[in-house]
Amino acid sequence: MVTGQMATENNSQKKLIALLQLAYSGELAAAHAYRGHWRSVRNAGEKIAIRNIEDDEWRHRKLVGEMLANLGSGPSKRREIRATIIGRALGLMCHITGWLAPMYGAGKLESRNIREYETGARYARDCGRVDLIDCLLEMAEVEWEHELFFRSRVLSHALGRRLSLWPQPPAKETIRLSFKEEPVARSLAEESLHVAARAQSRRDEMFIAPREQDISQAP
Ligand SMILES: [Fe+2]
Ligand SMILES: [Fe+2]
Repeated sequence: MVTGQMATENNSQKKLIALLQLAYSGELAAAHAYRGHWRSVRNAGEKIAIRNIEDDEWRHRKLVGEMLANLGSGPSKRREIRATIIGRALGLMCHITGWLAPMYGAGKLESRNIREYETGARYARDCGRVDLIDCLLEMAEVEWEHELFFRSRVLSHALGRRLSLWPQPPAKETIRLSFKEEPVARSLAEESLHVAARAQSRRDEMFIAPREQDISQAP
């Protein structure tokens, strides 16, 4: 029984590491693509919004990189090279494809990112790394906001409204609600209470510090 549980935990940890390696390089590709994207749009509000999204992706990448190191692993070199090439190519393409295609592509991608971090949180729970759950769910929530932004942009366009969109994600609250409602081993649930405060303060550092820096660097 104990051996079986250990094997399950081991398996979940392997899945978590593989997922985080994908996410780590995915964030790199996204950040490069958004850099090209915000530079290609004319509307000042859209420029700022997409630039902020790029910043979110760099922060996500830093957090995921820390998680990988913490799990005794690291990025996949092959995926890193691939992500750099794809991200930069997408960033350049934004300048030639027109306004709608990059908005549509980004929204569809973001809807996948929400589920990716939700799955990551489940793997973290299943391998006993409850200290990572809050941060993973928080990133899923940020991806939810990104999806909403790009969806709203596509729907603001006459042609965009006539396109068939990717499935709309459920309400933001369901990210944490559905996670909470799933059965969790008692020992893990108790442990999660202890780590929640630590995870919260770590997250605040990541999400607030860069904003302050942004403000101080503003002209
Ligand atoms: Fe992200
Ligand atoms: Fe995102």
